[in-house]
Amino acid sequence: MKRLVVAVSTLAALTASAAAPGKPDPKQIARGKYLVTIGGCNDCHTPWKKTPEGVAWDMDRMLSGHPDTLPMPAAPLNAEPWGLAFGNTMTAFSGPWGTSFSRNLTPDPETGLGAWTERDFIATIRNGRHLGRGRPLLPPMPWFNYREATDDDLRAIFAYLRSIPAVKNRVPDPRPPAAAPATASAETR
Ligand code: HEC
Repeated sequence: MKRLVVAVSTLAALTASAAAPGKPDPKQIARGKYLVTIGGCNDCHTPWKKTPEGVAWDMDRMLSGHPDTLPMPAAPLNAEPWGLAFGNTMTAFSGPWGTSFSRNLTPDPETGLGAWTERDFIATIRNGRHLGRGRPLLPPMPWFNYREATDDDLRAIFAYLRSIPAVKNRVPDPRPPAAAPATASAETR
């Protein structure tokens, strides 16, 4: 009888430590935060701001992508062998692929990942396409590194992204490469 009581209470303790289905699991969220930190997601998805001590992430807009309040003019043409231009906020990037803007990863349902399922997120990272089947993700999003993560790790990242404050910020669509500039042609030389 005593043994049965011990077994039952052990089972109860085990059940209590595992999060109920559908409820956020603090351990999983902490793991996700760790992976987002070492994965450098803030570098591109949190806008940088100038402070008296130098540039810093604007944590009021954590992981909310390129700010819709900052329209970007066409990037200056790059002189070879320079090939890329990054905006001051480190959320707008221009190169041979055109101009891309880091996306809103917060749980805002309209402008962030609020309407995404865990499956959508994992498929996006694994296939390098929007929602796993849409348009290919543009540089410099390094999805081909993150796709090596285990399902558990990607789930943890998604759980963490679900837990952060939602920020309403509609990131602009990417722009195609500018038409080749009209330069001196063979005839005019
Ligand atoms: C070097 C910059 C950079 C880093 C680091 C980075 N991203 Fe991105 N990410 C981008 C850019 C730019 C886009 C938009 C690409 C596009 O529009 O095709 C993007 C797009 C995404 C998307 C697709 C959203 C959508 O609507 O399809 C997801 C999801 C995402 N990033 C998650 C992450 C996560 C999670 C991390 C860290 C583990 C991370 N990113 C790190 C630059 C980066």
